[in-house]
Amino acid sequence: MLLTDKTVVLGITGSIAAYKAADLVSKLTQAGAKVEVIMTESATEFISPLTIRSLTARPVVTGMFGQSLESAIEHVALAEAADVVAIAPATANVISKLAVGVADDMLTCTVLATRAPVIIAPAMHTDMFQNSITQDNLVKLKARGFIIVGPVYGRLATGTVGIGRLAEVEEIIATVKQALGRSGDLVGKRIVVTAGGTQEPVDPVRYIGNRSSGKMGYAIAEAARDRGAEVKLIIAPTSIPAPADIEITQVETALQMKEAVTQAVTQADALIMAAAVADYQPRSAAKAKIKKETADLSLELIRTPDILAEVGGNLVKVGFAAESENVVENARSKLEQKQLDIIIANDITDVDSGFGTDTNKVTIINRDGKTESLPLMTKREVADKILDRVVGLLSPKH
Ligand code: PMT
Repeated sequence: MLLTDKTVVLGITGSIAAYKAADLVSKLTQAGAKVEVIMTESATEFISPLTIRSLTARPVVTGMFGQSLESAIEHVALAEAADVVAIAPATANVISKLAVGVADDMLTCTVLATRAPVIIAPAMHTDMFQNSITQDNLVKLKARGFIIVGPVYGRLATGTVGIGRLAEVEEIIATVKQALGRSGDLVGKRIVVTAGGTQEPVDPVRYIGNRSSGKMGYAIAEAARDRGAEVKLIIAPTSIPAPADIEITQVETALQMKEAVTQAVTQADALIMAAAVADYQPRSAAKAKIKKETADLSLELIRTPDILAEVGGNLVKVGFAAESENVVENARSKLEQKQLDIIIANDITDVDSGFGTDTNKVTIINRDGKTESLPLMTKREVADKILDRVVGLLSPKH
């Protein structure tokens, strides 16, 4: 995909790999992109702004405030103009600033102000990269939708060999193209997402619940929002605050979830149900708190409606299967039984996968049989993989 008419805001930070940014700028410009470069003060120690300016024929922004007030407002202008923001090389310092939202220079202000996809290409010494603080910061950024490319294994500036080299320029450009291809591919689409775990009252104090935190559904809603979709997010009780810029409906029980989904899907192009919805509820909830007696207590449970199975209409239906054994087989049968287009099978007994985790390990199964088992990745990355499939199924008529 040519980059003509696309604005790439490129951040260069103070890594020895900064010299490679000249090659990246040159190749992006040759591909037709308008490249706006922001250099941190420390980056100018490694490569001169004049070198970069000679490649882009555009002014290079350094530091925070230039000579005029206009330049101070520039970070908003760049943030708005960007079709994609890339930081290459990205030092451990800038990664940690972004992870906590520090905005103390033009680059970090621009990243915080942009709604465009943000790509991070780390480059640093192996020990810095493998430091748990750096690793935690990268997981946090991935969970927020940042795209991380590299670093790769190879010879470092210190002469040692290890992971920490900046990803190859070609790989960074490919990532830029992929990010540009994704952003906006759901513009004009209406997507309903469910998240969290329903609670079925036993009495005014007690309920039957499950372990869903809402993270998987939230990640799908945020990814869809970032790709231009109009998102309706229906949330069963969770302890995590709802994402911004998304229409929220709060529910408690499976019946309330059914009601909310039925209303929301009337105009929708796709329904993606990540919520853990109870299959059973007490036949009736006691009006008063059930007193503790010496005898055992039995609860009669009745089936709740199968929301996904009962949703009709011309929309793409995506469900999840929370399984602990025969994961793919059980998921396939749910796909058939609920007449789904896609089902996401996740083994909830897998470490770092399923309920409450920031990561998930899933197998995506299409109705036509196409099956892809993905490695452990952040729930946001899983969300984008699911949406890639949904985009493929949304015909123009949707
Ligand atoms: O929220 P997290 O902590 O991030 O955890 C994520 C998750 C493990 C909850 C998520 O990845 C997941 O697996 N969600 C589905 C959980 C579930 O209810 O799976 P199930 O196999 O019981 O249901 C199958 C599908 O039918 C689900 O899409 C579910 O939303 C839907 N369903 C279930 C019951 C019901 N009465 N009506 C439904 O529509």
